[in-house]
Amino acid sequence: MKKQVVLYKKLSPTLMTRLQQQCEVTLIESLDADGLMKLRDALPGAHGLLGASLKLDAALLDLAPQLQAIASVSVGVDNYDIDYLTRRKILLSNTPDVLTETTADTGFALILATARRVVELANMVRSGQWHRNIGPAHFGTDVHGKTLGIIGMGRIGEALAQRGHFGFGMPVLYHSQSRKPAVEARFDAQYRSLEGLLQEADFICLTLPLTAQTEGLIGTEQFALMRPESIFINISRGKVVDEAAMIEALRHQRIRAAGLDVFEREPLNHDSPLLQLNNVVATPHMGSATHETREAMARCAVDNLLAALAGEKPVNLVNPGAWQG
Ligand code: DGY
Repeated sequence: MKKQVVLYKKLSPTLMTRLQQQCEVTLIESLDADGLMKLRDALPGAHGLLGASLKLDAALLDLAPQLQAIASVSVGVDNYDIDYLTRRKILLSNTPDVLTETTADTGFALILATARRVVELANMVRSGQWHRNIGPAHFGTDVHGKTLGIIGMGRIGEALAQRGHFGFGMPVLYHSQSRKPAVEARFDAQYRSLEGLLQEADFICLTLPLTAQTEGLIGTEQFALMRPESIFINISRGKVVDEAAMIEALRHQRIRAAGLDVFEREPLNHDSPLLQLNNVVATPHMGSATHETREAMARCAVDNLLAALAGEKPVNLVNPGAWQG
């Protein structure tokens, strides 16, 4: 008998056909109230789940006694209670690697957009406010040659370092749980304490995952260490930052600008004070959002799920403690 899969993210026709050849698929088209009800109804029969952007907590997953595997279409796994899944021997997989370069591109887009005030100035042109050659009041700041500070030197951090070092001649500083000799050699990068990096870097980029240890890592004290010329970039998770503290720092120009792809609450409320600030570039959690990369992520998630449901170890298994092979 075919295994039951609940899909809470739409797949391309090719991937959908592949999944349907091997599994009985229930598609939840949208995660609105109706969709969530449909999901709850489908959970009791589910062997596998595939999707993203939904907090799957114990209260929900207790409804799925037969569940064997969850394939998340994301690299971040902060929507899952890993200890709970491991206790229940539910295999959780994610989609690393395939999104690394695209997400680093987004990071660099935010670096350039904030430093060169691209959105603010483009809006000025669009709204008919470009009356004469712009002067110092509209000048930005250079990116090339400035110091790039990366907090969390994982795959995405490395891809950002590569762009900064080779593309823009930027000295690279980094902070992470452990020293990375290969990264230091390749990008001439220097390790710093968190405080040291915040004080020295021109661009401070967060690329680390949200965990109990990183939640609220950057707050009032940390913003106070940054310099008025610093530009803060967040492509990791909103909750790594105390958003109220960041708003204060931006409002009072204790830092120059922020490029933000992630927020404490998503979607960002349209009345968020962040949207009143000219020195903020806010994007809609689009780090990996290109046609090519989202398809590659979905393919990777389908591969992981089919492997898990066939009794094989998924390539991107997040909780090896759940593996009983
Ligand atoms: C990821 O893959 O974790 C991205 O941030 C999308 O959630």
